[in-house]
Amino acid sequence: MSIETGRGPGQRHSTSYDAETHARLTADSDVIVARYPQARSALLPMLHLVQSEDGYVSPRGIAFCAAHLGLSTAEVSAVATFYTQYKRHPNGTYTVGVCTNTLCAIMGGDAIWEDLSDHLGVGHDETTDDGAITLERIECNAACDYAPVVMVNWEFFDNQTPDSARQLADDLAAGRPVVPTRGASSVCTFTEMSRVLAGFGDGRADEGVGAGVPTLRGVELARAEGWTAPEFPQGTTSAAPAAATEPRVGDEQSSAERPATTPADVSPAAEQQKQSTDDAKES
Ligand code: FES
Repeated sequence: MSIETGRGPGQRHSTSYDAETHARLTADSDVIVARYPQARSALLPMLHLVQSEDGYVSPRGIAFCAAHLGLSTAEVSAVATFYTQYKRHPNGTYTVGVCTNTLCAIMGGDAIWEDLSDHLGVGHDETTDDGAITLERIECNAACDYAPVVMVNWEFFDNQTPDSARQLADDLAAGRPVVPTRGASSVCTFTEMSRVLAGFGDGRADEGVGAGVPTLRGVELARAEGWTAPEFPQGTTSAAPAAATEPRVGDEQSSAERPATTPADVSPAAEQQKQSTDDAKES
């Protein structure tokens, strides 16, 4: 099992990319930036892109994003530290996430976590010595109907037990192929997954079953019973009643109209002016 980052223990990435890597990342970044009206909006996928290169959001990755998007490294760091999918230290080849949110926890997720943490000898956001697995407690993945759920690089492994999760981890560490319960029919590496999250498809998106039997149970029951959703009122696109008149400032639902009242508040006029300033900077 190789460690994806190609570095030994204690070694750090250099502070910049070599010319070939820089050119490749620049070309990919240009593709990402072109998807957005403002360059800075491309920051999230670009962080995934540098993560796909280094196995985490490295200092040189932060510097690259900042330079490419005209941001400060502090601004990029502020975003990278906000979201848990961005790693601030080298990640293992596989992120194994055990859902310990409420439903999974009571259905066995807590037991899986305890067992797997003991078995692997690592805690939350820690990586095994061979670099194969980074273990995480994760929040609900909207797969409660298959609880308890374990994710490997965001692929679903449903209805797990401590034994099945331990076998899954052993297979990953040994380099044996594993097959997710739903979705793609294989598990890619952390860096490959990061590139997909940067917006570069790997052709696996339409593999496998998306919605399994428990997910479809409700709609099948509704069809069998002849249940249907209420019609929308004529001329609307939602079931919410249409407002008879525009809300007045101070009325309920009028927050979009109210002026700024604190320094942290931003009025629509100020927001529009800031947008114009940002657009002028971009042009
Ligand atoms: S609580 Fe685990 S997937 Fe929802």
